[in-house]
Amino acid sequence: MIYLFSKLAQIFGLLALCVVGILIALVFVQADIEMLAQEEQTSNWGCGTVSPNEHLLLDTVSVSDTVIVGKVLFDNNCQQCHSAGAEVIIGPGLKGILERRSMEWIVPWVQNSQKMIAAGDPYGTALYNKYNKNMMQSFELTEYEIRAIIAYVQVYREQVYLSNK
Ligand code: HEC
Repeated sequence: MIYLFSKLAQIFGLLALCVVGILIALVFVQADIEMLAQEEQTSNWGCGTVSPNEHLLLDTVSVSDTVIVGKVLFDNNCQQCHSAGAEVIIGPGLKGILERRSMEWIVPWVQNSQKMIAAGDPYGTALYNKYNKNMMQSFELTEYEIRAIIAYVQVYREQVYLSNK
């Protein structure tokens, strides 16, 4: 009989411990949920804003495939005459090119600048004269390839990771 009581006491003791354990766990889960809710609020970035995390990525390792393709194409085709920065080599530095020209202008220009000058494009003609009538050769590059080059130029910063100078 005594044996039975002590067994029952043990079982109730264990049950009580379980209940306490579950209660404690619930308190922690609740706290977690509150923290998540708070995080969601602070990471609610609006259109056009950049979260601190994104800055981190841009400044460290995040380089898209397109930009890598662009760098290879730039190094192989454009680098002897253009810097991706502001420096003039034979042609103007391409820094900020999208502030001067649209992609609709740049694509046919890279594919055949002479044709555009012959057709009387005013910007191209003025630039050609300014750069001592140094001809830029034509490139059999696709629109995607030219966009990739410009994407690389856009993210290029002097002495930045991608630069091998
Ligand atoms: C042989 C030298 C040479 C090479 C190679 C060359 N360019 Fe040019 N580029 C020039 C010159 C010089 C100009 C100025 C206009 C002219 O003289 O025709 C120019 C002008 C430009 C412009 C207009 C710049 C501005 O400030 O408005 C763009 C864009 C451009 N080049 C892109 C490219 C790209 C992209 C490549 C590589 C695929 C390339 N160029 C390769 C010589 C070159």
